[in-house]
Amino acid sequence: MTDDNNLLRQLETIQADALKALETAADESSLQTWRTAYLGRSAPVMNIFSRLGEVSKEERPIIGQRANQVKQALEAAFETSFTTVKEAALQHSLTTQKLDVTLPGRPQSHGRLHPVTQTLREIYAVLAEMGFQIYRTRDVETDEMNFELVNIPAHHPARDMWDTFHMTTPGVLLRTHTSPGQVRAMRQYNPDPIRIALPGMCYRYEQISARSEIQFHQVELLTVGRNITFGDLKGTLEDFARRMYGDNVRTRLRPSYFPFTEPSAEMDVECFVCGGKGCPICKGAGWLEILGCGMVHPTVLKNGGYDPTVYSGYAAGMGVERISILRHKIEDIRYFWGNDVRFLEQF
Ligand code: DAH
Repeated sequence: MTDDNNLLRQLETIQADALKALETAADESSLQTWRTAYLGRSAPVMNIFSRLGEVSKEERPIIGQRANQVKQALEAAFETSFTTVKEAALQHSLTTQKLDVTLPGRPQSHGRLHPVTQTLREIYAVLAEMGFQIYRTRDVETDEMNFELVNIPAHHPARDMWDTFHMTTPGVLLRTHTSPGQVRAMRQYNPDPIRIALPGMCYRYEQISARSEIQFHQVELLTVGRNITFGDLKGTLEDFARRMYGDNVRTRLRPSYFPFTEPSAEMDVECFVCGGKGCPICKGAGWLEILGCGMVHPTVLKNGGYDPTVYSGYAAGMGVERISILRHKIEDIRYFWGNDVRFLEQF
């Protein structure tokens, strides 16, 4: 009996001690420590539960009930303190870390396509509609492919037009134009007809200036078949110019010279900045040169494995940066590879 009363008294002390200790727990971590100490496995109140076996049958429910009440009271006290502490922490952070919800958000910067990539994709889309297939060939070429087989033999004066980066391996170089791809494609397709576009970067060992870079893109066109005429060349290029520059754009072909075409020509479009009146972009001419072209030279056809007495074809080559420059009135070609975001962001 005394023993039983003793347990009841102990429960009162346990509760009083625990509640007193709780008053000093002022933050989350000391609350968690308190919880382990007063409600954990080896907490005093839990100890009472495990001692119920020692108590007489009659007293057991009374003490058990009281122990439960104490445990529940401690749990409730813990919850109250915990909520208070959390609330206080929130209030503290709200007052110390002031958030001005009226400030405008920081804009996310979006990546975007390089202006040359945009122009290239436009050219691809137009050419795809016209039935041209994209054909990619290598940037590192042989001297033979880049010059010899497109009818520019060693010591030919036209080689001056293609100042070259030579590799340490003799006879290997960075292509100076996309034209060597013509021979590679012909050797692959031969004897089938061909209608392809050869895009890619070209390299020239030049003094870098506002007007010339050591790397730039070209897109080359090549068709080979049995009855291809200069009329096909003219019609196709006019169609291309209208799709690229607008339905009403006027074009003209001027005679020119390229070693790999005969006859050769250059195509101009009416200046789309001034409409042909003459402005700084077209240097007062009213016309902009956009590509070189011609009928594939019999020697080049032969080098590709096509009999020039049976087959004919036309070719054309255009500079992609040049198109971009004219479109966007960019005054310096060096911007393209300068990686200045202030330039790139404008497209
Ligand atoms: N390969 C010439 C160059 O780099 C461009 C060119 C002109 C390509 C006329 C052609 C063409 O296919 O017919 O300047």
